[in-house]
Amino acid sequence: MARTRTTKSVAQRIDLNYFKRQTPYKRARLILVILAPLLALGWIAWRGLSRDSRVYSSGRMSGAHAVLEKQCAACHIEKAGEFSAKAADAGCLACHDGPVHHEEQVRAEVPACATCHVEHRGRVNIVASSSASCAECHANLKVAAGSLPYYPHIQSLEEGHPEIGARRPNVKDPGTILLNHAVHMKPIRRGPNGPLVQMECSDCHRPEGYKGSWPYADADYVDAKVTYEDKDVLVPVSAGTLQPRLVKARAYMAPVRFASSCAECHLLTFDKRFDTGVPHDKPEVVHAFLIKKFQEYIAAHPAEVRVLREPQRDLTGKPIPPEVRVLTPAQWVSERTADAEELLWRKTCKQCHALIQAPGSDLPKIAEARLTQRWMPHARFDHDAHRGFACTGCHPGALTSKETSDVLIPNLATCKACHAPGPEHAESRCFECHTYHNWAKRKEVKPTYLLPALQTGGR
Ligand code: HEC
Ligand code: HEC
Ligand code: HEC
Ligand code: HEC
Ligand code: HEC
Ligand code: HEC
Ligand code: HEC
Ligand code: HEC
Ligand code: HEC
Ligand code: HEC
Repeated sequence: MARTRTTKSVAQRIDLNYFKRQTPYKRARLILVILAPLLALGWIAWRGLSRDSRVYSSGRMSGAHAVLEKQCAACHIEKAGEFSAKAADAGCLACHDGPVHHEEQVRAEVPACATCHVEHRGRVNIVASSSASCAECHANLKVAAGSLPYYPHIQSLEEGHPEIGARRPNVKDPGTILLNHAVHMKPIRRGPNGPLVQMECSDCHRPEGYKGSWPYADADYVDAKVTYEDKDVLVPVSAGTLQPRLVKARAYMAPVRFASSCAECHLLTFDKRFDTGVPHDKPEVVHAFLIKKFQEYIAAHPAEVRVLREPQRDLTGKPIPPEVRVLTPAQWVSERTADAEELLWRKTCKQCHALIQAPGSDLPKIAEARLTQRWMPHARFDHDAHRGFACTGCHPGALTSKETSDVLIPNLATCKACHAPGPEHAESRCFECHTYHNWAKRKEVKPTYLLPALQTGGR
């Protein structure tokens, strides 16, 4: 029999009630359609009643503000009964200060805190502001009055950032201590007759506040009080620069000291009658020390006022009998002092110092050491954060430099080898290396705000 396949017979196979019939799937969907909004509404109501406004929030708070997750009004200050959608600077400033950058800045207004410190982006570092927030001014920097002291077209570290000041052409190290790094980085004698040793950078350079022992220190010199002060030795950090919030204890290397790094090899001996050296101090102090030492000596050894003139030979080569001179003790002291000073000023001190003949004085002056404490006053740096890297990776010149005037600080290209965009590199946005707020202008803020959890307390 032939199969009859009419439209009707086909249509009869279709269940016309299909869309009305309940299936487990459709039942679940219906329940969901009704329940979900109910749940959502309930949740909002419940949150509203519990005064939790996180529902309106566009994301989690930064780590520093995690405790404020529910405290919208701390930042979104309530005005006329409504929260502002913008975070108000006044809110931020009620809890902590954010002092100005530079008074000279000429944008219509100081940028709002939230331009740089973004929120609701999850548990991020709220300090990590974008380079664009700085480039807003620094890509085309203008100052209110006078000429611009800084390079004005910086977009990013990669684009337009100038060289480190100390590494620009013709900049010299102003220091006057005549240290030849190359000589000391090769095997060298430990003292006049000592064995050969290989010195390391850390024999002379340690972070500020280092309390351990130094291999080439002389305890007598370390313990001695000196009459010159740090301000005589160090070049002051220029006042016009931004002051960081805090400088970590191990960020910078301490100035090199004769007592802790040179004294064991470079003896300040002055006369064969004594083992000890003169104090490492101003020539006046050395002079007074010499006179006292020789006076004490001649009092203890009165016979020595008889001095032999240096043995001389006549033309035939036969020694002539030495002439004996008998001095008063005062004459003896002044002759010995003059001899010792001749040696010290012309040879011993002069190996490391420039000596200046002061007019109207018999004693020379020691040139100010002028050791630089901050090579990059306009940027942050921290040796401790880079302690995994070899010193010579950043200071290769220290192995070959023969002149104190050489600058051994790295150039910006060295920084950029590691500080570059991308996850495999160290941070390269401005905030990593720069201070923005001038923390010298910081005002103490007494936070009046109490977390609700604490407000109920007070027993
Ligand atoms: C620590 C301060 C702080 C707290 C607390 C805070 N916010 Fe914000 N909020 C900001 C900042 C900063 C912005 C960035 C936008 C602006 O300020 O112009 C912002 C922006 C917003 C925006 C605008 C959307 C956006 O991402 O730009 C909304 C909506 C918002 N916050 C809601 C909330 C709610 C709701 C809460 C409480 C659950 C809250 N905020 C708590 C600082 C805060
Ligand atoms: C209710 C008080 C409060 C308000 C309002 C507030 N903060 Fe904070 N903020 C804190 C506390 C507490 C910390 C963490 C402690 C600290 O480092 O001082 C902090 C830390 C910070 C930090 C440092 C983060 C770090 O890692 O050290 C920055 C930057 C900051 N807040 C900026 C802001 C900005 C911008 C606003 C306004 C949008 C703001 N804060 C609003 C209390 C507040
Ligand atoms: C142009 C960008 C910018 C603006 C605008 C800005 N900040 Fe900052 N802020 C930074 C940078 C970069 C740092 C980290 C370097 C520093 O300490 O100056 C910082 C650091 C801070 C810190 C200290 C963080 C820490 O613990 O070291 C606080 C607190 C702070 N800012 C609060 C504020 C407040 C409050 C405002 C608004 C009055 C504000 N900031 C405006 C960029 C900015
Ligand atoms: C509102 C404009 C403005 C913004 C935004 C701005 N700066 Fe500046 N900045 C200036 C001005 C103006 C000067 C020059 C001041 C002067 O003449 O002494 C300056 C100077 C500097 C200096 C050199 C001077 C010093 O004292 O160390 C550095 C570094 C610097 N800014 C870094 C930053 C960083 C980093 C940011 C972003 C977090 C930033 N600036 C954002 C206006 C701005
Ligand atoms: C014998 C002690 C001694 C040793 C060892 C020594 N230095 Fe120095 N260094 C000094 C003295 C003294 C100064 C200050 C005089 C000067 O500027 O040359 C100085 C200055 C510096 C400076 C800053 C001055 C500038 O002109 O840039 C750097 C950087 C430096 N040394 C790095 C090193 C490194 C890296 C090593 C190891 C490879 C090293 N030094 C080994 C004594 C030493
Ligand atoms: C381990 C012993 C040792 C230490 C420590 C040491 N020196 Fe020397 N230094 C020597 C010796 C040895 C010479 C002579 C080398 C030569 O002329 O070949 C010398 C030479 C010098 C010279 C003359 C270099 C030249 O140009 O020929 C100066 C300047 C000098 N040292 C400065 C210092 C200073 C400053 C310190 C401390 C920061 C110091 N030295 C620490 C052993 C040392
Ligand atoms: C081996 C090198 C070396 C020799 C030799 C040396 N000094 Fe120094 N001198 C230094 C160093 C390094 C400093 C830096 C600061 C410190 O050690 O306190 C310094 C600093 C000084 C200062 C302070 C300078 C200032 O800026 O005010 C005086 C004064 C001084 N020395 C006197 C002397 C006298 C006097 C002699 C000889 C008796 C002498 N020094 C021998 C290395 C030397
Ligand atoms: C990897 C570290 C690093 C980063 C990132 C960085 N800088 Fe610098 N910046 C420096 C150093 C180092 C100096 C030299 C400081 C000195 O000579 O005192 C400097 C100098 C400056 C100066 C002074 C320039 C002058 O003419 O003397 C300004 C302004 C400046 N930077 C702004 C910025 C801005 C804006 C950004 C982000 C777009 C930025 N820097 C990013 C390290 C950095
Ligand atoms: C990542 C690069 C880097 C490394 C690694 C590094 N330095 Fe430096 N060093 C610098 C910079 C940048 C400065 C300039 C800091 C300033 O004064 O503003 C500096 C400054 C110095 C100074 C002058 C004093 C000071 O702190 O400003 C000495 C001395 C010095 N370094 C010695 C060393 C020694 C020793 C090591 C190894 C333990 C070392 N450095 C490792 C980059 C580096
Ligand atoms: C060999 C790679 C390397 C070089 C070269 C280097 N850095 Fe860094 N730097 C790092 C790393 C990695 C960190 C992160 C260290 C940390 O805080 O854990 C860092 C951190 C920093 C910090 C933040 C320190 C802190 O305490 O938060 C500053 C500022 C900085 N570098 C400046 C510089 C400057 C300026 C130069 C060039 C003179 C430079 N770095 C060269 C690898 C490098």
